[in-house]
Amino acid sequence: MKKVLIVGVIIVLCVIAGLIYFSRDSEKTVEDDKIKIGLMVDSLVIERWQKDRDIFISRAKALGAEVLLKNANEDAQLQIQQVRELMEARVDVIVIIPYDRVSIAPILKQAKREGIKIIAYDRLVQKGDVDLYMSFDNVKVGQLMGASILENAPTGNYVVINGSPKDNNAYMFNEGYMSVLQPAVDAGKIEILENVWAEDWRELVAYDTISTLVDSGAEIDAIIGANDDLAEGAIRALLERQLAGHVLVSGHDANLSACQRIVEGTQTLTVYKPIKKLAQNAAEMAVDLAMGKAISSDAFIYDGEFDVPFIKFEPTLVDASNMVTEIIGDGFHLLEEVYRNIPQSEWPKP
Ligand code: BGC
Repeated sequence: MKKVLIVGVIIVLCVIAGLIYFSRDSEKTVEDDKIKIGLMVDSLVIERWQKDRDIFISRAKALGAEVLLKNANEDAQLQIQQVRELMEARVDVIVIIPYDRVSIAPILKQAKREGIKIIAYDRLVQKGDVDLYMSFDNVKVGQLMGASILENAPTGNYVVINGSPKDNNAYMFNEGYMSVLQPAVDAGKIEILENVWAEDWRELVAYDTISTLVDSGAEIDAIIGANDDLAEGAIRALLERQLAGHVLVSGHDANLSACQRIVEGTQTLTVYKPIKKLAQNAAEMAVDLAMGKAISSDAFIYDGEFDVPFIKFEPTLVDASNMVTEIIGDGFHLLEEVYRNIPQSEWPKP
């Protein structure tokens, strides 16, 4: 009888131990099953990236994923180190805005070999063999700028201020506007006085370039600023010399300050890229990739070594004439923000 009791107690203890073990194990499994996405931004200095980050994270969370955010603060080595950290954290997917399109490639390839899916977000990685590139039609961004400025200034002196030479997009924008401007240069209709590249997209490069040119007596008819920050630097130099509004200036991103300058008349145009679409879709694709779903994309882009699937969204040219329909209508900025410095009696009807 005593033996039976002891065996009974042992059995009960085993069952309790088993229950504890399995409940712990199932907790662990639930934790492990949660999709982990590493979102890597190169910096948050420029206005748009905060929107990208917020929209991406909120969509990914709504889909049940956990997002580990890394900000490289414009430091190539730090961004490489952060990929390593994400590998150690065993993320399923890395979504990266590369700071340096070249030096980041080897570590991303290593992460890919270890089974992590890689999405290049907005900017392509050179020879990176990423699983997917998601962005806008960046060549078209440049074409839209170039074509509209050329239409308004078919002859005259131009200055081109390109973006960061470390950013693949800067070359795509350049390809876009130069495809439109070069024939006019060749025909002797326009002259490009300067064609500079702004390290880290610093607006100071634009400010210095325009200041120096104007101070040396150059007459400028049009400035192609590769984004709104560069346009801002150029316009600051023009403002100080009472030339703002007399020189055509392009930018892109539809930054709030750029939209304000457009309605005030100191910036000619910007190009709007619907960031919400990109960020939400990227979060969805990241979750799909983590779940092992195949990518369906008809378009590809050559990264210097590999053809990479490319999901791209359409940009739109914005000037004072379609500010309300495109920017305010799409909820990108509010009417009262864009027209803040204009007398309310002159505001357009929404
Ligand atoms: C993006 C632009 C942005 C720039 C500077 C580019 O890669 O496409 O939207 O203004 O980087 O951050």
